[in-house]
Amino acid sequence: MNNPRPAVSWVGDAPSGALQLIDQTLLPVEYREIRCATAEVVWEAIKSLRVRGAPAIGVAAAYGVVVGCQPVAQSTRADFNAKLDSVVQYLAGSRPTAVNLFWGLDRMRRVADASPSLGSAEMLDRLLEEAKAIELEDREMCASIARHGLPLLSECKGVLTHCNTGGLATAGDGTALAVIFAAARQNPELQVYADETRPLLQGARLTAWELMQRGVSATLICDSMAGWVMHEGRVQAVIVGADRIAANGDSANKIGTYSLSILAKAHNIPFYVAAPSSTFDLTIESGKEIPIEERASAEITHAFGKQTAPDQCMTYNPAFDVAPATHITALITEKGVIQPVTKERIHAVLTGNGQ
Ligand code: MRU
Repeated sequence: MNNPRPAVSWVGDAPSGALQLIDQTLLPVEYREIRCATAEVVWEAIKSLRVRGAPAIGVAAAYGVVVGCQPVAQSTRADFNAKLDSVVQYLAGSRPTAVNLFWGLDRMRRVADASPSLGSAEMLDRLLEEAKAIELEDREMCASIARHGLPLLSECKGVLTHCNTGGLATAGDGTALAVIFAAARQNPELQVYADETRPLLQGARLTAWELMQRGVSATLICDSMAGWVMHEGRVQAVIVGADRIAANGDSANKIGTYSLSILAKAHNIPFYVAAPSSTFDLTIESGKEIPIEERASAEITHAFGKQTAPDQCMTYNPAFDVAPATHITALITEKGVIQPVTKERIHAVLTGNGQ
């Protein structure tokens, strides 16, 4: 069984509909869908990881623009534009690392800029159309990523992944996890090792859940076990997603990805990053320019309501790190596989001049 409904979707028409999400903070214990009918509720859902994963954040933000502009659907176009600007700016402040957020918001703004003479009600309809297009394209990108990535895992008996990059993190089947799903369909014996992904346990709570829902053999490990699992020869590839990929291929992803990339290199195991073109930020040269979100210390000291560190203990809680391009065997995109990972190859594949 797959997720009963997509992780992010729209219910209703433009003037009165709303964004619908699976509340991922409750999984795997409880499956609950929530309705987000204001920009504030969408902002909170993104900030608190009720919706998470770079592509899903981009789709949610696009729908967030629609709900944010609903109150001005009967106002002048000037008022509509002013509201749109403030909603876009507001949603952009929810999380800093996943570039899909800014990419989705930019697309929505550009649609409004392109039709300055449209009335506000028609503009709202047009914005909903664009958000739905973003959702649909994301679903298609997932399917293409799975197709392009499949041959890379065809010889693997075991594969390791980190965080959650599946149906919950996208509008479709996922990025890295979609490749794994495809590989498991081809080879039902495939063993998938899922890092639990401290501190918020996206691997344990979400990836293990998604794999089990689909009948894929999933083995949960603590993050610190990955090196030993490689040493024992249990995995022949590592595949992860990304939140932002710089022009040179440096890839930001969930904290722990950098260490995994070094471990994979040390064990001579291919390290793949699967992501749609919407996750590339070609305006930045390298990973040094990627803003890394720092989250509340309570995520480390009081994980899931239980105190696990002394009172007043100092913490450092970066939510992401950057795997350097030199550690990445290939980038898997909906437009094809980028290998070797160089600025030139990235440019060639993303612009369609590569293969
Ligand atoms: O903090 P999260 O859960 O939003 O982090 C998610 C990740 O790091 C994913 O690996 C990434 O967004 C790719 S999702 C297809």
